[in-house]
This record gives sequence, structure tokens and C-alpha cells, in this order.
Amino acid sequence: MLVVGSGAREHALCWRLAQSPQVSEVLAAPGNPGMEAVARRLAVTASDGSALAQAAVRERVDLVVIGPEAPLVQGVADRLRQAGLPVLGPSAAAARIEGSKAWAMDLCHRHGIPAPTARRAAHADEALALVEASPLPVVLKADGLMAGKGVVVALTREEARAAAERLGARGPVVLEEFLEGPEVSAFALCDGRRALPLGLARDHKRLLEGDRGPMTGGMGAYTPLADVEAGQRAQILRLLDDAVRAMAAEGCPFVGFLFAGLMLTPSGPRVLEFNCRLGDPEAQVLLPLLDGDPAPLWLRAAHGDLGAADQVRLLPGAALGVVLATPGYPDAPRAGQAIWGLGEDGQPDGGGALCFHGGSVRDGGWRTVGGRTLTLVGTGPDLGAARAAAYGAVERVGFAQAQWRRDIAGGWSRA
Ligand SMILES: Nc1ncnc2c1ncn2[C@@H]1O[C@H](COP(=O)(O)OP(=O)(O)O)[C@@H](O)[C@H]1O
Ligand SMILES: [Mg+2]
Repeated sequence: MLVVGSGAREHALCWRLAQSPQVSEVLAAPGNPGMEAVARRLAVTASDGSALAQAAVRERVDLVVIGPEAPLVQGVADRLRQAGLPVLGPSAAAARIEGSKAWAMDLCHRHGIPAPTARRAAHADEALALVEASPLPVVLKADGLMAGKGVVVALTREEARAAAERLGARGPVVLEEFLEGPEVSAFALCDGRRALPLGLARDHKRLLEGDRGPMTGGMGAYTPLADVEAGQRAQILRLLDDAVRAMAAEGCPFVGFLFAGLMLTPSGPRVLEFNCRLGDPEAQVLLPLLDGDPAPLWLRAAHGDLGAADQVRLLPGAALGVVLATPGYPDAPRAGQAIWGLGEDGQPDGGGALCFHGGSVRDGGWRTVGGRTLTLVGTGPDLGAARAAAYGAVERVGFAQAQWRRDIAGGWSRA
């Protein structure tokens, strides 16, 4: 099996597949040094569809799992399918659900999937005109992929105008109704026709404790979510399944991991966005809780062949992940810090937690390459135990001036 990508999410995918009795070898393209204990790396970049197809055919790969959104939006899954390879990851047409926020909102509105009201502006002037007529607060979103930097929740008309100009200078902008409530991320495994629920998680996007500081790729995550009631869960599942059926009806069936960012409003869950892949760091907490062998199920999903009896089973218990980022992240990450507490295999000395690598190299010992370097994941019978395991690892694994949050899943204090 071949995993495409090079972050901690892809490390978690490789790690999970490597445990499958049915998988003889896991390959990663290009992968990273921290995952070499579970995957053999191929020197091919994630965006080079032709080179990936050649390598996958040469290696007689049975399934390609694509981790990041950029290659999906660029059509790498299409290129691999043209070469006859089974792929868990959407076509470029289906990846529009993440690649264009306007398209995703229109899909929701066309198919009665609960979402904020939204209007699309083609450029800054149109966005400015819409801002003048919008109630406040108003949410402005750049239409395309922006790596988490394309959304402004504007509380004042002034902020909204500034956002309209800044985002509108790059292309189309979506103006959305402002919603309030707790946020959840919901994941499903999809075969183009149906969505099998994979679990709910919550991530922490801000750099600093108390949800302050700049937006990041994600500083931690946990699952399950105790604050989501059974009725809301049922609504979320229906919403995911409706989205997959809507896409099939529109001729762009979604195969892969679908991620819905939702707000639990008083009138039920509503879609803030869809992503066309697993989240990072959410994957690092969801994959350790998968029960059974995911490989045959993922293969059936890639073949458009999930059966009525198929389901994703999760182990009871919880998982919590803490991200360690280098000093200067996210604006100007510094690299080269020596990492302590990891063994030869890149896992914490003495065990007790999992370590998924996002940006490390081996040179003598382990070193950072700058940015979100490690996700330390604790698992246990409940969130308290998972938290103790994850933060226990943070005490032992780290590097100089590491940035990490003490308040993942509500917090932790040194005993
Ligand atoms: N309609 C909305 N109402 C209120 N807050 C929103 C709305 N849309 C997005 N947000 C906030 O902005 C964040 C980022 O928006 P999202 O659509 O998830 O974009 P991205 O993850 O691509 O940056 C959300 O997690 C949420 O906190
Ligand atoms: Mg988001």
C-alpha cells in the first residue's frame, strides 16, 4: 500500500496500515524520516501524478491513499486511476468540495444540506458591495485553498471591508452568515455512494492556550466528543451521507475520507466547510482508535464497493494528541533543534505514547526541520487517561523552545 504525503497525518496512516496482517509492505511518497520504521520511502513528490503512477505500477501497489488536499485538488487521484490503480482519495472534480468554498456552499444549498446562507463575490469590489449590505458579524472566505489563512470573522464593518479588499485581491470571496455554537469535525469513509461514519474529533487551531494567538495548522486534537448528543450525532451522519449522495447525483462521486467542519447551532449542525481528506492532527487521534483491520475496508471503498454490512468500528476509549512546533512557528519557524526522548525508531523512549512525525530528520540523533514537528498521542480508557499519557510524553520528548499547548481537550496541570 502506498501513502502519498509527508506529514504526521501520513505517518499515522502508514503506521495503521503497517499493522494490517493483509498488508505486506507500506510505501510512502515522499514520506519523512520519522516514518521509516513503518514505511519504505519512494523519492517521488506528492504533486507529481505521473511519477507516482509509474512508481505505484512498478511496485505493484494494491491501494494508494492520498493524505494531503493539494495533490487531490490538482487531480493526482485522477492520474493514478487512469493508470489502473485503486485510490482512496477523491478526483479533482470531487475535491472541489474543499478546493472551492463557493462550490461547497452551493452544493449544500442545492441539496438542502444545512449550511449558513452564503454569497459569492467575483472580486474585491463586489465583495465590498456585499459587505455594505451584510448584517454583522459577517464571515469572509477566500474561495480557494489557503492553508487555514483564508477566513476572517469580521465583527465590524471596517474589518469586513479590509478583509474584502485583502481576500478579494486574490480572487473570489464567499460571504457567509455568522453562526455560533461549539465546533466539531466529523469524518467519514466514502466509496462514492455512501458515507461510513469514522468518528468525531475536535482540533485546536490557535497557537496559544485559551484559543489566542495566530491560526496554525492545528496544535492538538482529541476524540471522542462527550458534548455531542446522540440526536446531534444522527443529524451529523445524515448530513455526511446526504453530501456524498449529492455529489454522486451531480456526477462527481466522492471516494476517500470526507471531513465536515460543523457548527452545532441551536437549530442543529450546520456545515462551515468540507475537507476532502483526513485532518492533521485529527488523523493522529482517530487512526489509533480504529478497531480491526482497516485495509480490506479501505480497499473496498476505493473500488466503490462498500457493502451494507460494512462499518468502521472504533475501540472504546479516547485519544488525545499534542503538537510540538518549533520556535517562531507559524510565521517564521526556526529549524535544527535537537529532539530528545526518542528512540532509534522515532518513538518515545520507554513507550507510553505514540509519536507521529511531521518534520524531523536523523543526523546522529533526531532534529527538527521547522514547523509542526511531532504529534504526541496518548490513548486510554477515557479522555483523562489519554491526556495523562500524551502529556506524560511531552514531559519526556521535546526540543529547545518547543511550542505546545497545555489545554488540549480542556487542559492539564502539572501535578
Ligand atoms: N459561517 C461561520 N460562522 C461563524 N464562524 C465561522 C463561519 N465559518 C467559519 N467560521 C470560523 O472560522 C474557522 C475557519 O473557517 P473554515 O471554513 O473552517 O476554513 P479553513 O479551515 O479553511 O480556514 C472555523 O473553524 C470557524 O471557527
Ligand atoms: Mg476549518
